[in-house]
Amino acid sequence: MNAGSVAPRAVIVTGGARGIGLGVAQRLAASGVRLALWDRDRDAVAEAASSLGPAHAAFACDIADEAQVEAAAAATWAQFGSIAGLVNNAGILGPVVPLWEHSAADFRRVVDVNLVGTFLVSKACVRHMRGQAGPVRARIVNVSSIQAKEGMPMAAAYAASKAGILALTKSLGKELAREGILVNAVTPAAAETDMAREIDAARRAEIVGRIPMGRFVEVGEIAALVAWLLSDNCGFSTGAVFDISGGRATY
Ligand SMILES: NC(=O)c1ccc[n+]([C@@H]2O[C@H](COP(=O)([O-])OP(=O)(O)OC[C@H]3O[C@@H](n4cnc5c(N)ncnc54)[C@H](O)[C@@H]3O)[C@@H](O)[C@H]2O)c1
Repeated sequence: MNAGSVAPRAVIVTGGARGIGLGVAQRLAASGVRLALWDRDRDAVAEAASSLGPAHAAFACDIADEAQVEAAAAATWAQFGSIAGLVNNAGILGPVVPLWEHSAADFRRVVDVNLVGTFLVSKACVRHMRGQAGPVRARIVNVSSIQAKEGMPMAAAYAASKAGILALTKSLGKELAREGILVNAVTPAAAETDMAREIDAARRAEIVGRIPMGRFVEVGEIAALVAWLLSDNCGFSTGAVFDISGGRATY
Protein backbone atom coordinates (compact mmCIF):
# COMPACT_ATOMS: atom_id res chain seq x y z
CA MET A 1 0.00 0.00 0.00
CA ASN A 2 1.25 3.52 -0.71
CA ALA A 3 1.74 5.23 2.63
CA GLY A 4 -1.11 7.63 3.16
CA SER A 5 -2.90 6.73 -0.06
CA VAL A 6 -6.24 6.53 1.74
CA ALA A 7 -5.36 9.16 4.38
CA PRO A 8 -6.52 11.40 5.88
CA ARG A 9 -10.02 10.04 5.29
CA ALA A 10 -11.34 7.32 7.56
CA VAL A 11 -11.45 3.57 7.13
CA ILE A 12 -14.01 1.60 9.15
CA VAL A 13 -12.96 -1.83 10.41
CA THR A 14 -15.73 -3.91 11.97
CA GLY A 15 -14.66 -6.41 14.61
CA GLY A 16 -11.67 -4.12 15.13
CA ALA A 17 -11.21 -4.86 18.82
CA ARG A 18 -8.91 -7.86 18.33
CA GLY A 19 -7.65 -10.52 15.95
CA ILE A 20 -7.62 -9.90 12.21
CA GLY A 21 -9.55 -6.61 12.50
CA LEU A 22 -7.05 -5.14 14.93
CA GLY A 23 -4.16 -6.42 12.80
CA VAL A 24 -5.61 -4.67 9.74
CA ALA A 25 -6.15 -1.49 11.77
CA GLN A 26 -2.58 -1.51 13.06
CA ARG A 27 -1.19 -1.85 9.54
CA LEU A 28 -3.38 0.97 8.21
CA ALA A 29 -2.62 3.25 11.17
CA ALA A 30 1.09 2.80 10.49
CA SER A 31 0.43 4.18 6.97
CA GLY A 32 -1.28 7.29 8.33
CA VAL A 33 -4.87 6.14 7.85
CA ARG A 34 -7.46 7.22 10.44
CA LEU A 35 -9.43 4.30 11.81
CA ALA A 36 -13.02 4.00 12.97
CA LEU A 37 -13.12 0.70 14.83
CA TRP A 38 -16.55 -0.84 15.26
CA ASP A 39 -17.13 -3.77 17.61
CA ARG A 40 -19.85 -5.09 19.87
CA ASP A 41 -17.25 -5.40 22.68
CA ARG A 42 -17.41 -1.82 23.98
CA ASP A 43 -14.44 -1.94 26.37
CA ALA A 44 -12.11 -3.87 24.08
CA VAL A 45 -12.79 -1.64 21.07
CA ALA A 46 -12.19 1.51 23.12
CA GLU A 47 -8.88 0.07 24.29
CA ALA A 48 -7.94 -0.98 20.75
CA ALA A 49 -8.63 2.49 19.32
CA SER A 50 -6.68 4.24 22.06
CA SER A 51 -3.76 1.83 21.50
CA LEU A 52 -3.61 3.13 17.91
CA GLY A 53 -3.40 6.79 19.00
CA PRO A 54 -5.57 9.89 19.35
CA ALA A 55 -6.49 10.18 15.64
CA HIS A 56 -8.59 7.02 15.84
CA ALA A 57 -12.05 6.32 17.26
CA ALA A 58 -14.09 3.44 18.65
CA PHE A 59 -17.80 2.83 18.12
CA ALA A 60 -19.71 0.17 20.05
CA CYS A 61 -22.00 -1.58 17.58
CA ASP A 62 -23.59 -5.00 17.04
CA ILE A 63 -23.48 -5.28 13.25
CA ALA A 64 -26.54 -7.56 13.24
CA ASP A 65 -28.67 -4.73 14.68
CA GLU A 66 -29.76 -2.28 11.97
CA ALA A 67 -30.44 0.60 14.36
CA GLN A 68 -26.98 0.26 15.93
CA VAL A 69 -25.36 0.08 12.49
CA GLU A 70 -27.16 3.22 11.29
CA ALA A 71 -26.16 5.04 14.48
CA ALA A 72 -22.50 3.97 14.17
CA ALA A 73 -22.38 5.04 10.51
CA ALA A 74 -23.88 8.43 11.35
CA ALA A 75 -21.48 8.90 14.28
CA THR A 76 -18.48 7.91 12.13
CA TRP A 77 -19.57 10.30 9.41
CA ALA A 78 -20.09 13.09 11.93
CA GLN A 79 -16.60 12.58 13.37
CA PHE A 80 -14.58 12.02 10.18
CA GLY A 81 -16.67 13.72 7.47
CA SER A 82 -15.90 11.05 4.88
CA ILE A 83 -15.44 7.30 4.61
CA ALA A 84 -12.63 6.14 2.30
CA GLY A 85 -12.84 2.47 3.15
CA LEU A 86 -14.77 -0.23 4.91
CA VAL A 87 -13.46 -3.60 6.06
CA ASN A 88 -16.37 -5.92 6.85
CA ASN A 89 -14.44 -8.16 9.21
CA ALA A 90 -16.62 -8.83 12.27
CA GLY A 91 -17.78 -12.42 12.40
CA ILE A 92 -18.51 -15.41 14.59
CA LEU A 93 -17.79 -19.10 14.18
CA GLY A 94 -20.90 -20.47 15.87
CA PRO A 95 -21.25 -24.03 17.13
CA VAL A 96 -18.79 -26.65 15.85
CA VAL A 97 -21.34 -29.45 15.38
CA PRO A 98 -22.84 -31.45 12.49
CA LEU A 99 -25.61 -29.69 10.59
CA TRP A 100 -28.31 -31.86 12.14
CA GLU A 101 -27.26 -30.67 15.60
CA HIS A 102 -27.37 -26.94 14.78
CA SER A 103 -30.39 -25.30 16.37
CA ALA A 104 -32.27 -23.00 14.01
CA ALA A 105 -31.52 -20.15 16.43
CA ASP A 106 -27.76 -20.83 16.31
CA PHE A 107 -27.81 -21.13 12.52
CA ARG A 108 -29.73 -17.85 12.19
CA ARG A 109 -27.40 -16.01 14.58
CA VAL A 110 -24.32 -16.98 12.54
CA VAL A 111 -25.98 -15.88 9.29
CA ASP A 112 -27.32 -12.75 10.99
CA VAL A 113 -23.89 -11.61 12.14
CA ASN A 114 -21.70 -12.76 9.27
CA LEU A 115 -23.92 -12.20 6.24
CA VAL A 116 -26.78 -9.90 7.27
CA GLY A 117 -24.31 -7.83 9.31
CA THR A 118 -22.08 -7.40 6.25
CA PHE A 119 -25.17 -6.34 4.28
CA LEU A 120 -26.33 -3.84 6.92
CA VAL A 121 -22.92 -2.22 7.37
CA SER A 122 -22.33 -2.06 3.60
CA LYS A 123 -25.75 -0.53 3.03
CA ALA A 124 -25.25 2.19 5.65
CA CYS A 125 -21.69 3.01 4.53
CA VAL A 126 -22.31 2.92 0.78
CA ARG A 127 -25.02 5.54 1.23
CA HIS A 128 -22.50 7.84 2.90
CA MET A 129 -19.75 7.00 0.37
CA ARG A 130 -22.01 7.75 -2.61
CA GLY A 131 -23.09 11.02 -1.04
CA GLN A 132 -19.56 12.34 -0.56
CA ALA A 133 -18.71 15.64 -2.21
CA GLY A 134 -16.50 15.54 -5.29
CA PRO A 135 -15.40 12.44 -7.20
CA VAL A 136 -16.19 9.33 -5.16
CA ARG A 137 -13.23 7.05 -4.38
CA ALA A 138 -13.78 4.34 -1.85
CA ARG A 139 -12.98 0.71 -1.22
CA ILE A 140 -14.84 -2.11 0.54
CA VAL A 141 -13.12 -5.34 1.59
CA ASN A 142 -15.21 -8.23 2.90
CA VAL A 143 -13.52 -10.86 5.05
CA SER A 144 -14.89 -14.23 3.99
CA SER A 145 -13.10 -17.56 4.50
CA ILE A 146 -11.61 -20.51 2.64
CA GLN A 147 -14.61 -22.37 4.09
CA ALA A 148 -16.87 -20.37 1.76
CA LYS A 149 -15.24 -22.09 -1.21
CA GLU A 150 -14.75 -25.57 0.17
CA GLY A 151 -17.43 -25.96 2.83
CA MET A 152 -16.38 -27.34 6.20
CA PRO A 153 -17.76 -30.30 8.12
CA MET A 154 -19.08 -29.25 11.56
CA ALA A 155 -19.38 -25.60 10.47
CA ALA A 156 -22.25 -25.49 7.97
CA ALA A 157 -23.73 -22.22 9.22
CA TYR A 158 -20.33 -20.50 9.19
CA ALA A 159 -19.36 -21.81 5.73
CA ALA A 160 -22.78 -20.94 4.28
CA SER A 161 -22.69 -17.42 5.73
CA LYS A 162 -19.20 -16.87 4.32
CA ALA A 163 -20.25 -18.18 0.89
CA GLY A 164 -23.10 -15.67 0.97
CA ILE A 165 -20.54 -12.91 1.51
CA LEU A 166 -18.85 -13.88 -1.78
CA ALA A 167 -22.10 -13.54 -3.75
CA LEU A 168 -22.84 -10.26 -1.97
CA THR A 169 -19.34 -9.02 -2.90
CA LYS A 170 -19.81 -9.91 -6.57
CA SER A 171 -23.27 -8.30 -6.71
CA LEU A 172 -22.31 -5.05 -4.96
CA GLY A 173 -19.06 -4.85 -6.93
CA LYS A 174 -21.04 -4.89 -10.18
CA GLU A 175 -23.58 -2.38 -8.85
CA LEU A 176 -20.86 0.13 -7.90
CA ALA A 177 -18.35 -0.57 -10.69
CA ARG A 178 -18.88 2.83 -12.35
CA GLU A 179 -19.22 4.80 -9.13
CA GLY A 180 -15.62 4.80 -7.90
CA ILE A 181 -16.30 2.25 -5.16
CA LEU A 182 -14.49 -1.09 -5.51
CA VAL A 183 -15.78 -4.10 -3.54
CA ASN A 184 -13.64 -7.19 -3.05
CA ALA A 185 -13.41 -10.17 -0.72
CA VAL A 186 -10.60 -12.15 0.85
CA THR A 187 -10.78 -15.84 1.76
CA PRO A 188 -8.19 -16.59 4.44
CA ALA A 189 -7.30 -20.00 5.77
CA ALA A 190 -7.12 -20.40 9.56
CA ALA A 191 -5.32 -17.65 11.49
CA GLU A 192 -4.13 -17.76 15.09
CA THR A 193 -6.80 -15.59 16.78
CA ASP A 194 -9.43 -16.03 19.52
CA MET A 195 -11.73 -17.56 16.90
CA ALA A 196 -9.18 -20.27 16.03
CA ARG A 197 -8.60 -20.92 19.72
CA GLU A 198 -12.23 -22.14 19.91
CA ILE A 199 -11.10 -25.17 17.84
CA ASP A 200 -9.85 -28.32 19.60
CA ALA A 201 -6.37 -29.81 18.98
CA ALA A 202 -7.50 -32.64 16.70
CA ARG A 203 -9.45 -30.27 14.44
CA ARG A 204 -6.55 -27.81 14.34
CA ALA A 205 -4.22 -30.59 13.17
CA GLU A 206 -6.74 -31.59 10.52
CA ILE A 207 -7.01 -27.98 9.30
CA VAL A 208 -3.22 -27.52 9.08
CA GLY A 209 -3.07 -30.82 7.19
CA ARG A 210 -5.30 -29.34 4.48
CA ILE A 211 -2.94 -26.36 3.89
CA PRO A 212 -0.09 -27.15 1.45
CA MET A 213 2.16 -24.57 3.13
CA GLY A 214 1.64 -26.50 6.39
CA ARG A 215 0.84 -23.61 8.73
CA PHE A 216 -1.81 -21.08 9.73
CA VAL A 217 -1.80 -17.71 7.96
CA GLU A 218 -0.30 -14.79 9.93
CA VAL A 219 -2.65 -11.92 10.78
CA GLY A 220 -0.05 -9.57 9.25
CA GLU A 221 -0.24 -11.45 5.95
CA ILE A 222 -4.01 -10.92 5.80
CA ALA A 223 -3.56 -7.26 6.80
CA ALA A 224 -1.08 -6.73 3.95
CA LEU A 225 -3.57 -8.05 1.38
CA VAL A 226 -6.45 -6.02 2.81
CA ALA A 227 -4.29 -2.86 2.87
CA TRP A 228 -3.47 -3.36 -0.80
CA LEU A 229 -7.14 -3.83 -1.69
CA LEU A 230 -7.93 -0.56 0.12
CA SER A 231 -5.18 1.34 -1.66
CA ASP A 232 -5.02 3.13 -5.00
CA ASN A 233 -2.70 0.34 -6.18
CA CYS A 234 -5.84 -1.76 -6.55
CA GLY A 235 -7.58 -0.03 -9.43
CA PHE A 236 -9.15 -2.56 -11.78
CA SER A 237 -10.44 -5.32 -9.50
CA THR A 238 -13.98 -5.34 -8.18
CA GLY A 239 -16.42 -8.07 -7.22
CA ALA A 240 -13.34 -10.28 -6.97
CA VAL A 241 -12.28 -12.92 -4.48
CA PHE A 242 -8.64 -12.89 -3.32
CA ASP A 243 -7.27 -16.17 -1.97
CA ILE A 244 -4.93 -16.27 1.02
CA SER A 245 -4.98 -19.93 1.96
CA GLY A 246 -1.39 -21.15 1.65
CA GLY A 247 -2.26 -23.08 -1.48
CA ARG A 248 -5.35 -24.79 -0.04
CA ALA A 249 -7.82 -23.26 -2.49
CA THR A 250 -7.94 -24.79 -5.93
CA TYR A 251 -9.93 -21.92 -7.45
N1 LIG B 1 -9.28 -16.76 12.58
C1 LIG B 1 -9.47 -17.48 11.48
O1 LIG B 1 -8.98 -18.62 11.38
C2 LIG B 1 -10.23 -16.93 10.31
C3 LIG B 1 -10.04 -17.51 9.05
C4 LIG B 1 -10.77 -16.99 7.96
C5 LIG B 1 -11.62 -15.95 8.15
N2 LIG B 1 -11.78 -15.40 9.39
C6 LIG B 1 -12.73 -14.30 9.52
O2 LIG B 1 -12.01 -13.14 9.92
C7 LIG B 1 -12.85 -12.29 10.68
C8 LIG B 1 -12.16 -11.94 11.99
O3 LIG B 1 -11.90 -13.14 12.68
P1 LIG B 1 -10.93 -13.24 13.94
O4 LIG B 1 -10.28 -14.55 13.85
O5 LIG B 1 -10.12 -12.01 14.08
O6 LIG B 1 -12.04 -13.34 15.11
P2 LIG B 1 -12.00 -12.86 16.62
O7 LIG B 1 -13.05 -13.68 17.30
O8 LIG B 1 -10.61 -12.86 17.15
O9 LIG B 1 -12.49 -11.33 16.51
C9 LIG B 1 -13.76 -11.02 15.99
C10 LIG B 1 -14.19 -9.65 16.47
O10 LIG B 1 -15.50 -9.41 15.93
C11 LIG B 1 -16.33 -8.89 16.96
N3 LIG B 1 -17.72 -9.24 16.69
C12 LIG B 1 -18.28 -10.47 16.69
N4 LIG B 1 -19.59 -10.38 16.45
C13 LIG B 1 -19.88 -9.06 16.29
C14 LIG B 1 -21.05 -8.33 16.05
N5 LIG B 1 -22.24 -8.94 15.95
N6 LIG B 1 -20.97 -7.00 15.94
C15 LIG B 1 -19.78 -6.36 16.06
N7 LIG B 1 -18.64 -6.99 16.35
C16 LIG B 1 -18.69 -8.33 16.45
C17 LIG B 1 -15.82 -9.55 18.24
O11 LIG B 1 -16.21 -8.83 19.40
C18 LIG B 1 -14.31 -9.58 18.00
O12 LIG B 1 -13.70 -8.39 18.49
C19 LIG B 1 -14.16 -13.06 10.87
O13 LIG B 1 -15.11 -12.61 9.93
C20 LIG B 1 -13.77 -14.49 10.60
O14 LIG B 1 -14.85 -15.25 10.15
C21 LIG B 1 -11.10 -15.86 10.47
